[in-house]
Amino acid sequence: MNTTQNESAQKKTLDLSKIEQVLEKYKNARGALIPVLQAVQGHYGYLPEPVVDLIAERLRISAHEIVGTATFYAQFHLKPRGQHIVKVCCGTACHVKGAKKVLQKISETLEVSTGMTTKDNAFTLEEVACLGACSLAPVMMVDEDLHGKLAPDTVGTVIKEIKGAGTSS
Ligand code: FES
Repeated sequence: MNTTQNESAQKKTLDLSKIEQVLEKYKNARGALIPVLQAVQGHYGYLPEPVVDLIAERLRISAHEIVGTATFYAQFHLKPRGQHIVKVCCGTACHVKGAKKVLQKISETLEVSTGMTTKDNAFTLEEVACLGACSLAPVMMVDEDLHGKLAPDTVGTVIKEIKGAGTSS
């Protein structure tokens, strides 16, 4: 399937009517890009490419400009994200305490690379800067829950408990 066929298939599976009200409200309002992106992401969980094209058309902005804005702000995502977001801190304090090895172990446990989402869409693994809990380094956040003083040989168990897939590491 080529890119055009992929885009066409994606448009068919996306319910664009979900955002019609938002697009109508901000029609031709270039300055409303951020609230539009927030609303769109609220509906889909990310900013699907066909929707970006639709926003570009309605707000009279280039899709390139929208992607530029979306990539500038960490709150926006151009790819689908998992049901759970695992953020592993690799800030200085966590780095010194072995965050990279923790990240590697989580990556192996989830079978996913940093920045990617597991095949079952359950988890997205992200590397982030300081989470503001340096005294608990190394730390990670799973959704809204902070896990601190992690170690490579125990973090696999934490992840498996979260997955509900057993307790052995
Ligand atoms: S460096 Fe990781 S919480 Fe501050």
